[in-house]
Amino acid sequence: METILSGMRPTGDLHLGNYYGALLNFVKLQEKYDCYFFIADFHLLTTHPNPADLNNNVRKILAQYLACGLDPDKSTIYVQSSVPEVAELYMYLNMITYVGELERTTAFKEKIRQNPNNINAGLLTYPSLMAADILLHRANKVPVGKDQQQHLEITRDIAERFNRMYKQDYFPLPQAFNFERELVKIPSLDGNGKMSKSYGEQATIYLTDDTSVLKKKIMKAKTDEGPQSPNSQKSVEIENLFSLMRLVSKQEIVQQFEDSYNDCSIRYGDMKKQLLQDMDLFLAPLREKIKELSSNETYLNKIIHIGAEKARESAKKTIREVREIIGFKI
Ligand code: TYM
Repeated sequence: METILSGMRPTGDLHLGNYYGALLNFVKLQEKYDCYFFIADFHLLTTHPNPADLNNNVRKILAQYLACGLDPDKSTIYVQSSVPEVAELYMYLNMITYVGELERTTAFKEKIRQNPNNINAGLLTYPSLMAADILLHRANKVPVGKDQQQHLEITRDIAERFNRMYKQDYFPLPQAFNFERELVKIPSLDGNGKMSKSYGEQATIYLTDDTSVLKKKIMKAKTDEGPQSPNSQKSVEIENLFSLMRLVSKQEIVQQFEDSYNDCSIRYGDMKKQLLQDMDLFLAPLREKIKELSSNETYLNKIIHIGAEKARESAKKTIREVREIIGFKI
């Protein structure tokens, strides 16, 4: 049976990008595969979080995973730091990963630009830790958004190099995966790039946003002066609004607005109201579930405990085999 794995950094609340880029795919896949989903708290250390925040965010994000449909009976849900074997594999993989290939990654270059005063070695080796996460369970498929594509390519390169170096067909070469087809990039509300916490809270829709917060964000979303001629090309801002609408609105509603855009009768205010209504309908049950699960500390702790045991079983097996392949005989 094929193995799928994915994870997220516990940076706070999940947003629509996390949900549609990674989580939803994973939830759909968990019916049929051997599944691992984890909370990447080691990865978060590159930003030096304070200890209390780190601990709170892990539980917060776990409640959100569960509310979105991750099922502890079908999947192994775990916290990365409770599986220390990953650190050992990370060390081995760093020995066969070249500084040049790490320096070339887009995410690293972007982080340097955003944060010139904190260019630590963990940031540089972020992709090899990610490779360790994936290879630790010898995963085949990794549901992620488009922004992670390059990291998956590096993981494949590292896996291939390991196999070649030790003349073993040990690690599968994992593929970034989206159920539908292409990897997705969910846009932000301000017309700038992908939805992401670091690009602005007000342009990011969180799964926990209540109606009034949603209203503020959606009503403030950037638009343009309207289509100037029939069937004209959409600006980035308007295309983004349509993309968000396609996620939560019925197809005929989207089509109605497409038509009114094409015949120049569209009123962006109406489109935003519709988007708000449909987004709110989509988020309301999730918000409720998140609230309920977040307050159940005992249940969350139980999941963390069971997940750690299950994940470590698989991790220990891989580490045992990798040590043997490398040549450690004790
Ligand atoms: P993180 O926390 O930055 O993002 C978590 C997941 O959400 C996806 N995502 C998006 N997808 C589409 N559109 C967006 N606007 C958007 N924003 C975020 C990301 O692609 C990601 O899938 N490095 C990973 C965490 C990680 C990991 C792993 C993932 C660590 N080890 C091993 C898979 C396998 C990350 O950046 O998470």
